[in-house]
Amino acid sequence: MQPQSIALLGRQPALGIAELESLYGADVLHPLGEGLVLIDMHHSEIDFKRLGGSVKLGKILTQLDTNDWKKITEYMTKNVPKHLDEFPEGKLRLGLNAIGIKASVNDINRSGLQLKKAIKNAGRSVRVVPNKENELNSAQTLHNQLTGPTGLEMAAIKEGTKTILAQITQVQDIDAYAKRDQARPKRDAKVGMLPPKLAQTIINLAAPTSDATVLDPFCGTGVVLQEALLMGFAAYGTDLEPRMIEYTDENLAWLTSDTSVKAPYTTAVGDATAFTWQKFDVIAGETYLGRPFSNPPDEKTLRDVMQDVDTIHKKFLRNVASQTEPGTRLCIAVPAWFVRGRTYHLKTLDSLEELGYTRMSFVHARNEDLVYHRENQVVGRELVVITRK
Ligand SMILES: C[S@@+](CC[C@H](N)C(=O)[O-])C[C@H]1O[C@@H](n2cnc3c(N)ncnc32)[C@H](O)[C@@H]1O
Repeated sequence: MQPQSIALLGRQPALGIAELESLYGADVLHPLGEGLVLIDMHHSEIDFKRLGGSVKLGKILTQLDTNDWKKITEYMTKNVPKHLDEFPEGKLRLGLNAIGIKASVNDINRSGLQLKKAIKNAGRSVRVVPNKENELNSAQTLHNQLTGPTGLEMAAIKEGTKTILAQITQVQDIDAYAKRDQARPKRDAKVGMLPPKLAQTIINLAAPTSDATVLDPFCGTGVVLQEALLMGFAAYGTDLEPRMIEYTDENLAWLTSDTSVKAPYTTAVGDATAFTWQKFDVIAGETYLGRPFSNPPDEKTLRDVMQDVDTIHKKFLRNVASQTEPGTRLCIAVPAWFVRGRTYHLKTLDSLEELGYTRMSFVHARNEDLVYHRENQVVGRELVVITRK
């Protein structure tokens, strides 16, 4: 089968690729490098809204035997006007991306004007969204409704000596993510702010379907539970701190006051190293990350924190192993420390086999790249996908 779709991945492409591989399998994916992946699936078969690691999705229209932007522009100028009656009435909006193709922002904006002229000559009015860079960002795509019925966002993508021409059909709804993140009644900077997109990726790595109960045993303010409910999962959250369970309850009551969110949820106060859970199918969540650091700690402090966090994780994983069937899958975001140019991984990761788990590996992403980390951040989050042996 030929690739029919292309995903434009987020800031950390390995996370987006692993997520797609978890949902759709390795065989349909063909990473192109530079944060792009071709997918042998029709774009309508891809549940884009649940993807945390893909920024845009496009349907592949054709492949051209050139990388020359002038020739690509000529092709679009000739062919776009032939398809105008596929759009409903009204002013069209046009956007362009040149990905990996040699073209300056000026070149792209000139091509936009050339296309505008051709579209006008064919009897339709059109507004071109000006490029500030070679690619339009999500806000430009979203706010100009380029993926809407009268929008046309084209992406020319270099693939070796050829160019893939795609139409962008989906874009991440950054406004909805911001609302989910910021409008919740309870937030807590101390337990860290898990971005909703990362919560989605964690859930997708734990549970490729939606027919399951997702347990987050370190649920904090409930971001993972919130995203699980929005994806149609039943959600179950526990946390050591009664205050955190109050926060989660308030946040989930706010979320489910919108009656479109129908999946059920349960919460309880419980120490993940000893608690006996009710029935659940998968575990997805961010574990205890240890002390937050705004500056790199000295060696002794780092060693002490790592030791403390390691003990909790080992006890937690033993507790889970004693209550689950073989095959039960977990995706946990655990701490990784970035101190003076070195990355320190959680020691527990060296004992997963002894603890009763097998670490999953991905065909198209390396486990060591599945770390969510911003520059200058001391504590990053390593995404670990394991199954009970
Ligand atoms: C990094 S935060 C998780 C934040 C969460 N993802 C959210 O959306 O707010 C870790 C949480 O683990 C909890 N915790 C720490 N030790 C625990 C334990 N032994 N059992 C259960 N929860 C624990 C803390 O109270 C904290 O809420």
